[in-house]
Amino acid sequence: MNNVFVSNHPLVKHKLTLLRDARTEHKKFRELIRELAMLLGYEAMADLDLEDRPVQTPLAMAPGYHLREDVGLIPILRAGLGMLDGFLEMLPGAQVWHLGLYRDEKTLRPVSYYNKLPVDPTVQVCLILDPMLATGGSASAAVEVLKNWGVKRIKFVGLIASPEGIAAVSKAHPDVPIHLAALDDHLNERGFIVPGLGDAGDRQFGTG
Ligand code: PRP
Repeated sequence: MNNVFVSNHPLVKHKLTLLRDARTEHKKFRELIRELAMLLGYEAMADLDLEDRPVQTPLAMAPGYHLREDVGLIPILRAGLGMLDGFLEMLPGAQVWHLGLYRDEKTLRPVSYYNKLPVDPTVQVCLILDPMLATGGSASAAVEVLKNWGVKRIKFVGLIASPEGIAAVSKAHPDVPIHLAALDDHLNERGFIVPGLGDAGDRQFGTG
Protein backbone atom coordinates (compact mmCIF):
# COMPACT_ATOMS: atom_id res chain seq x y z
CA MET A 1 0.00 0.00 0.00
CA ASN A 2 1.64 3.17 -1.15
CA ASN A 3 0.01 5.45 1.44
CA VAL A 4 1.59 3.56 4.39
CA PHE A 5 5.03 4.58 5.63
CA VAL A 6 6.66 2.33 8.22
CA SER A 7 9.78 3.90 9.66
CA ASN A 8 13.02 2.07 9.06
CA HIS A 9 15.00 4.19 11.51
CA PRO A 10 17.13 2.21 13.97
CA LEU A 11 16.18 4.53 16.85
CA VAL A 12 12.50 3.93 16.15
CA LYS A 13 13.01 0.16 16.17
CA HIS A 14 15.05 0.34 19.37
CA LYS A 15 12.59 2.54 21.25
CA LEU A 16 9.54 0.64 20.00
CA THR A 17 11.02 -2.57 21.41
CA LEU A 18 11.32 -0.94 24.83
CA LEU A 19 7.78 0.39 24.51
CA ARG A 20 6.36 -3.04 23.70
CA ASP A 21 8.10 -4.67 26.69
CA ALA A 22 5.48 -5.57 29.30
CA ARG A 23 7.99 -4.69 32.05
CA THR A 24 8.25 -1.04 30.96
CA GLU A 25 6.76 1.21 33.68
CA HIS A 26 4.36 4.11 33.05
CA LYS A 27 6.97 6.86 33.37
CA LYS A 28 9.35 5.24 30.92
CA PHE A 29 6.42 4.35 28.66
CA ARG A 30 5.38 8.02 28.45
CA GLU A 31 8.96 9.12 27.73
CA LEU A 32 9.23 6.57 24.92
CA ILE A 33 5.91 7.61 23.37
CA ARG A 34 7.10 11.22 23.36
CA GLU A 35 10.46 10.32 21.80
CA LEU A 36 8.90 8.05 19.17
CA ALA A 37 6.41 10.78 18.30
CA MET A 38 9.30 13.16 17.58
CA LEU A 39 11.09 10.64 15.38
CA LEU A 40 7.95 9.73 13.43
CA GLY A 41 6.87 13.35 13.25
CA TYR A 42 10.20 14.26 11.70
CA GLU A 43 9.49 11.78 8.91
CA ALA A 44 5.80 12.62 8.57
CA MET A 45 6.49 16.35 8.19
CA ALA A 46 9.21 15.95 5.54
CA ASP A 47 6.94 17.32 2.80
CA LEU A 48 5.56 20.43 4.51
CA ASP A 49 5.56 23.40 2.16
CA LEU A 50 8.13 26.17 2.61
CA GLU A 51 8.31 29.74 1.43
CA ASP A 52 11.52 31.64 0.89
CA ARG A 53 12.54 33.91 3.75
CA PRO A 54 16.17 35.08 3.39
CA VAL A 55 17.95 35.77 6.66
CA GLN A 56 20.66 38.22 7.66
CA THR A 57 23.54 36.38 9.36
CA PRO A 58 26.31 38.33 11.17
CA LEU A 59 28.24 38.13 7.87
CA ALA A 60 25.82 38.29 4.95
CA MET A 61 22.37 37.43 3.70
CA ALA A 62 21.67 33.69 3.51
CA PRO A 63 18.86 31.77 1.93
CA GLY A 64 16.16 31.05 4.49
CA TYR A 65 12.81 29.34 4.71
CA HIS A 66 9.60 29.54 6.67
CA LEU A 67 6.79 27.00 6.95
CA ARG A 68 4.06 28.13 4.59
CA GLU A 69 1.23 26.05 6.01
CA ASP A 70 -0.54 26.26 9.35
CA VAL A 71 -0.43 22.86 11.00
CA GLY A 72 -3.06 21.45 13.33
CA LEU A 73 -2.23 18.63 15.71
CA ILE A 74 -5.22 16.43 16.48
CA PRO A 75 -4.53 14.12 19.43
CA ILE A 76 -7.16 11.44 19.85
CA LEU A 77 -8.01 11.20 23.53
CA ARG A 78 -6.74 9.61 25.52
CA ALA A 79 -3.79 7.73 24.10
CA GLY A 80 -2.90 10.37 21.50
CA LEU A 81 -2.08 12.85 24.27
CA GLY A 82 1.23 11.11 24.87
CA MET A 83 2.38 11.91 21.34
CA LEU A 84 1.42 15.56 21.53
CA ASP A 85 4.34 16.89 23.61
CA GLY A 86 6.91 15.48 21.20
CA PHE A 87 5.21 17.14 18.26
CA LEU A 88 4.87 20.45 20.08
CA GLU A 89 8.58 20.49 20.88
CA MET A 90 9.32 20.38 17.16
CA LEU A 91 6.39 22.55 16.10
CA PRO A 92 5.71 24.96 18.97
CA GLY A 93 3.47 27.15 16.82
CA ALA A 94 1.09 24.36 15.89
CA GLN A 95 -2.56 24.57 16.82
CA VAL A 96 -3.92 21.72 18.94
CA TRP A 97 -7.46 20.51 18.41
CA HIS A 98 -8.54 17.69 20.70
CA LEU A 99 -10.89 14.93 19.59
CA GLY A 100 -12.27 12.47 22.12
CA LEU A 101 -13.05 9.00 20.79
CA TYR A 102 -13.26 5.77 22.69
CA ARG A 103 -13.89 2.33 21.31
CA ASP A 104 -17.02 0.55 22.47
CA GLU A 105 -15.70 -2.73 23.90
CA LYS A 106 -18.56 -4.79 22.47
CA THR A 107 -19.07 -3.32 19.00
CA LEU A 108 -15.45 -2.04 18.62
CA ARG A 109 -16.99 1.03 16.96
CA PRO A 110 -15.63 4.49 17.90
CA VAL A 111 -17.80 6.66 20.13
CA SER A 112 -17.26 10.42 19.94
CA TYR A 113 -17.38 12.26 23.29
CA TYR A 114 -15.36 15.45 22.76
CA ASN A 115 -14.70 17.77 19.82
CA LYS A 116 -12.84 21.06 20.26
CA LEU A 117 -12.86 22.05 16.57
CA PRO A 118 -14.25 25.50 15.79
CA VAL A 119 -16.86 25.84 13.04
CA ASP A 120 -14.41 26.78 10.26
CA PRO A 121 -10.97 25.25 9.68
CA THR A 122 -8.03 27.33 10.89
CA VAL A 123 -5.21 25.19 9.44
CA GLN A 124 -4.20 23.78 6.07
CA VAL A 125 -2.60 20.53 7.30
CA CYS A 126 -3.84 18.22 10.05
CA LEU A 127 -1.80 15.51 11.73
CA ILE A 128 -3.93 12.98 13.61
CA LEU A 129 -1.99 11.55 16.57
CA ASP A 130 -2.96 8.17 18.00
CA PRO A 131 -0.48 5.43 18.93
CA MET A 132 -2.77 2.53 17.98
CA LEU A 133 -4.64 1.80 14.76
CA ALA A 134 -6.51 -1.46 15.43
CA THR A 135 -9.77 -1.90 13.49
CA GLY A 136 -9.18 1.55 12.00
CA GLY A 137 -12.58 2.76 13.16
CA SER A 138 -11.21 5.60 15.30
CA ALA A 139 -8.74 6.76 12.64
CA SER A 140 -11.42 6.76 9.93
CA ALA A 141 -13.84 8.61 12.19
CA ALA A 142 -11.21 11.26 12.95
CA VAL A 143 -10.41 11.69 9.25
CA GLU A 144 -14.11 12.10 8.47
CA VAL A 145 -14.47 14.79 11.14
CA LEU A 146 -11.51 16.70 9.67
CA LYS A 147 -12.71 16.34 6.07
CA ASN A 148 -16.14 17.60 7.09
CA TRP A 149 -14.36 20.48 8.82
CA GLY A 150 -12.88 21.36 5.41
CA VAL A 151 -9.23 20.34 5.72
CA LYS A 152 -7.75 18.93 2.53
CA ARG A 153 -4.35 17.70 3.74
CA ILE A 154 -4.59 15.11 6.48
CA LYS A 155 -2.00 12.65 7.73
CA PHE A 156 -2.28 9.96 10.39
CA VAL A 157 0.72 9.43 12.65
CA GLY A 158 0.60 6.34 14.85
CA LEU A 159 2.98 3.84 16.36
CA ILE A 160 1.53 0.40 15.68
CA ALA A 161 -1.20 -0.72 13.28
CA SER A 162 -2.85 -3.96 12.27
CA PRO A 163 -3.11 -5.06 8.63
CA GLU A 164 -6.91 -5.14 9.03
CA GLY A 165 -7.01 -1.55 10.27
CA ILE A 166 -4.67 -0.31 7.56
CA ALA A 167 -6.82 -1.95 4.90
CA ALA A 168 -9.98 -0.33 6.30
CA VAL A 169 -8.53 3.19 6.57
CA SER A 170 -6.79 2.99 3.19
CA LYS A 171 -10.00 1.88 1.53
CA ALA A 172 -12.10 4.62 3.13
CA HIS A 173 -9.43 7.34 2.82
CA PRO A 174 -6.79 6.47 0.21
CA ASP A 175 -5.69 10.11 0.19
CA VAL A 176 -4.49 10.02 3.81
CA PRO A 177 -0.86 8.94 4.37
CA ILE A 178 -0.32 6.71 7.40
CA HIS A 179 3.00 6.96 9.25
CA LEU A 180 3.92 4.16 11.65
CA ALA A 181 6.70 2.66 13.71
CA ALA A 182 5.48 -0.88 12.96
CA LEU A 183 2.85 -2.85 11.10
CA ASP A 184 1.96 -5.84 13.28
CA ASP A 185 0.65 -9.32 12.59
CA HIS A 186 -3.10 -9.34 13.26
CA LEU A 187 -6.04 -8.32 15.45
CA ASN A 188 -7.22 -10.76 18.08
CA GLU A 189 -10.87 -11.56 18.88
CA ARG A 190 -11.03 -8.59 21.30
CA GLY A 191 -9.79 -6.19 18.65
CA PHE A 192 -6.30 -5.87 20.17
CA ILE A 193 -3.25 -5.64 17.93
CA VAL A 194 -0.98 -8.70 18.23
CA PRO A 195 1.82 -8.62 19.27
CA GLY A 196 1.18 -4.88 19.85
CA LEU A 197 1.92 -3.39 23.24
CA GLY A 198 -1.36 -3.75 25.15
CA ASP A 199 -3.59 -0.73 25.80
CA ALA A 200 -1.57 2.42 25.07
CA GLY A 201 -3.90 4.64 27.13
CA ASP A 202 -3.81 2.42 30.19
CA ARG A 203 -0.05 1.95 29.98
CA GLN A 204 0.55 5.71 29.78
CA PHE A 205 -1.77 6.69 32.56
CA GLY A 206 -1.54 3.69 34.90
CA THR A 207 -5.18 2.72 34.58
CA GLY A 208 -4.78 -0.88 33.40
C1 PRP B 1 -7.55 3.01 21.47
C2 PRP B 1 -6.50 3.69 20.63
C3 PRP B 1 -7.29 4.20 19.45
C4 PRP B 1 -8.32 3.13 19.27
C5 PRP B 1 -7.86 2.21 18.17
O1 PRP B 1 -8.25 3.92 22.21
O2 PRP B 1 -5.82 4.70 21.30
O3 PRP B 1 -7.89 5.46 19.67
O4 PRP B 1 -8.39 2.38 20.51
O5 PRP B 1 -8.83 1.25 17.91
P1 PRP B 1 -9.61 1.18 16.53
O6 PRP B 1 -8.61 1.32 15.45
O7 PRP B 1 -10.22 -0.21 16.58
O8 PRP B 1 -10.66 2.24 16.52
P2 PRP B 1 -9.28 3.48 23.36
O9 PRP B 1 -10.66 3.26 22.82
O10 PRP B 1 -8.70 2.32 24.12
O11 PRP B 1 -9.40 4.76 24.25
P3 PRP B 1 -8.28 5.42 25.20
O12 PRP B 1 -7.26 6.06 24.31
O13 PRP B 1 -9.07 6.43 25.95
O14 PRP B 1 -7.69 4.36 26.09
